[in-house]
Amino acid sequence: MINKDKTKIKEIKALHLEAFGTEEGPVIFKLVEDFLLREDSIAISVEEGCKIIGNVIFSPFILEEYPEKKFFLLAPLGVLPEYQRKGVGKKLIEESIGYLKSLGGEAIFVLGDPNYYPLRGFKLTTIKTPYSEIMRLPEAWMALEIEEGALKGLHGNSVASKPIMKPMFWDTTGRG
Ligand SMILES: CC(C)(COP(=O)(O)OP(=O)(O)OC[C@H]1O[C@@H](n2cnc3c(N)ncnc32)[C@H](O)[C@@H]1OP(=O)(O)O)[C@@H](O)C(=O)NCCC(=O)NCCS
Repeated sequence: MINKDKTKIKEIKALHLEAFGTEEGPVIFKLVEDFLLREDSIAISVEEGCKIIGNVIFSPFILEEYPEKKFFLLAPLGVLPEYQRKGVGKKLIEESIGYLKSLGGEAIFVLGDPNYYPLRGFKLTTIKTPYSEIMRLPEAWMALEIEEGALKGLHGNSVASKPIMKPMFWDTTGRG
């Protein structure tokens, strides 16, 4: 079952802690909390029974030269270890595209696993990350057009939502 309940903060944080493991987990745990407390974030979960088994969070993503465009940043995406590789991540992304489209969303950006997101339709983008000077792995920076052609000809600098506007989130080998 798909759920858009943002009030399940404790459960969603616990899920990401487990999904990302002991090294990355604690940082993502805090990021999730910071996002969920904001009105402009979106959380989409997959539940089995009453248990959240996968979750993805979206936040506004602004291109400095095109502030009127409605773009989102996908971060983080996590699936409980025992439910991974069963299509939960795929389902979350597919549901999200439909939902964000219904909100007028035009494209989704992600700094994530370059082996995973291209399978879901994401492609390399020339739009800069908010900290492009410390970008270590350009192939991890991708975007998916919700509206066909939404990113065509666009370029320049970007600004993400406050919780993720920290260099540590942008110089890694990729987090979803
Ligand atoms: C990455 C993640 C969100 C994928 O979700 P998922 O539900 O396991 O993925 P799906 O079942 O939708 O897709 C799995 C397919 O994607 C591919 N894939 C590529 N990279 C992958 C990866 N790192 N993890 C899982 N699948 C991956 C595989 O081909 C796999 O198909 P297969 O099982 O037939 O080989 C999940 O594994 C996860 O939570 N990982 C830990 C947290 C994390 O690293 N999140 C950020 C990702 S940038």
